[in-house]
Amino acid sequence: MTIRDIITYPDPFLREPTHKVEVIDDEIQRLIEDMSETMYAEPGVGLAANQVGSDHSVLLYDVSPREEGPNPTALINPEIVEKEGSQLSENEGCLSVPDFRADVKRYAQIRVRALDRNGEPLDFRTDGFESIVLQHEIDHLRGILFIDRISALKRQLYKRRRKKELRQV
Ligand code: NI
Repeated sequence: MTIRDIITYPDPFLREPTHKVEVIDDEIQRLIEDMSETMYAEPGVGLAANQVGSDHSVLLYDVSPREEGPNPTALINPEIVEKEGSQLSENEGCLSVPDFRADVKRYAQIRVRALDRNGEPLDFRTDGFESIVLQHEIDHLRGILFIDRISALKRQLYKRRRKKELRQV
């Protein structure tokens, strides 16, 4: 297992929608293992494959309490098929958007269809924090970042700050 580098904003790769996984082969299993290594090393609660340079529609997340140890779930080709209500995701952040947090409006409840890492179909409803994480990661797989869902003014401020930081590196 390898810890992979996290691709950060404004890298255009984060804007490319990922592709559906057709065959869950060794490459996909290795990707999931590497994503797990990377997510816990950061640490983060969720990670999309395109954040580590893969164009496959795969996400990994773990919203269980940290003291219970790692309990990652991989979803392949996840899709939100139903959504309702709204909730405020406070101080949302992203490993690909360094040093920035903002409140984001998210759906309150979602229904997700996906495959697990063995190719078994999953179909479940979720709400609360788990649904926020899944909405964030499924956005990633479609080339969307959480800063796309905040006010234009706040986004501009972040873009400017990030540009300045990158010049200093
Ligand atoms: Ni993210």
